[in-house]
Amino acid sequence: MRILITGVDGYLGWALSIYLAKRGHKVAGIDNYLRRSWVGEMGSQSAIPIAKMAERLLAYRKNLGQNLRFYKGDLTDYNFVLNAYKSFRPEAIVYLGEMPSAPYSMIDVHHAIFTQTNNQMGTLVTLYAMREAVPDCQLVKLGTMGEYGTPNVDIPEGFFDIEYRGRKDRMMFPRQAGSWYHQSKVHDTNNVEMACRLWNLCSTDIMQGVVYGTRIDEMGEDDAIRTRFDFDQCFGTAINRFCAQAVIGLPLTPYGKGKQRRGFLPLRDSMQCLTLAIENPPESGEYRTFNQFEEVYGITELALKIQKVGAEFGLDVQIQPIENPRIEMEEHYYNPDHQHLLDLGYKPTHDMKAELQIVLKDLMRHKERIESRKEAQFPDIRWDGSRRNSVKLNKPIL
Ligand SMILES: NC(=O)c1ccc[n+]([C@@H]2O[C@H](COP(=O)([O-])OP(=O)(O)OC[C@H]3O[C@@H](n4cnc5c(N)ncnc54)[C@H](O)[C@@H]3O)[C@@H](O)[C@H]2O)c1
Repeated sequence: MRILITGVDGYLGWALSIYLAKRGHKVAGIDNYLRRSWVGEMGSQSAIPIAKMAERLLAYRKNLGQNLRFYKGDLTDYNFVLNAYKSFRPEAIVYLGEMPSAPYSMIDVHHAIFTQTNNQMGTLVTLYAMREAVPDCQLVKLGTMGEYGTPNVDIPEGFFDIEYRGRKDRMMFPRQAGSWYHQSKVHDTNNVEMACRLWNLCSTDIMQGVVYGTRIDEMGEDDAIRTRFDFDQCFGTAINRFCAQAVIGLPLTPYGKGKQRRGFLPLRDSMQCLTLAIENPPESGEYRTFNQFEEVYGITELALKIQKVGAEFGLDVQIQPIENPRIEMEEHYYNPDHQHLLDLGYKPTHDMKAELQIVLKDLMRHKERIESRKEAQFPDIRWDGSRRNSVKLNKPIL
């Protein structure tokens, strides 16, 4: 298949381009390197060194025996996107090219507006460009499990059956976002669903859990085709940040009670699931939702797992909960469905320990890079609008 990945220079996009090429697909990508600037703005850098795009493309050809067709440009620029779609004629577009951080979107009004403008404009541009250039192409759109929030009822996959005053219908399950970033994804979801309904486009909207991991096997051993790995307060996802903390001897810092529950999945499972969605497209006009995660864990539960694996590497890992910078429920019911991908053949890895061992081993090679930017992992962006430099420590967990 011809598959175009927006956000191909990012954490998931780069890995996916390699995974798909290894399966024999023809891959193209779009990016304008915003992620590199955002991480710089946070005073940080990727723990795993990543090559410039020109070097990445050479290494890609050397390792995978085919070119990645790369279009540099802004996804909110309609003419640029339309021309890229017309020239590559994708059969599937995997839309990853958005600003992906909740804390970044909560910094101030400028970051909130940037997040919602970048994400929603990019999605609208893509829907219009698809309608004009490639109306039969499938859109695999990355949303997040965070769109649903943490309601006190089970979470279905996108839709639920409703009966009201004797009449029945199938409606979109209500979303309750907890940041401007998550809210941008809710708006995207509404826009994509409507475009499918009105224009007969087809889309799989992926409500993805938190992804962790440094690599997939398809990357081989060439350092030039590694994907990035961030650990700063905005762009480091929870487990990735904990692993980086463990490697440089800093305590792992669950927020508040640490009983927040979320769905997680390793990078290799994310690649497997996205590929299942791509290779099993919906009917034209169909909009479907997949909840994409492997298992649900509490945040402190994860910290304890990393502590245990760290001990195998001789790391003395402490866990030091800190005051929660976010406004969120710290103890709650959480029971999301995730049957659709399993029905398509998703085989969950189910070996978090082995994955964490790989992550710690990879990160230990780059300890100095994490050490040199360690201040960037302390959370001083607060949901209530205050920004404080000191972080209040709660009782340590032994
Ligand atoms: N990583 C996770 O744990 C996770 C979990 C759930 C959902 N997601 C979603 O998956 C997608 C990819 O996540 P990621 O972790 O790879 O993020 P990422 O920031 O590493 O990748 C996004 C890429 O898109 C590019 N981009 C953003 N706006 C652009 C624009 N206007 N024009 C051109 N390029 C642009 C960035 O430069 C970046 O390279 C995001 O939509 C994110 O919300 C990620």
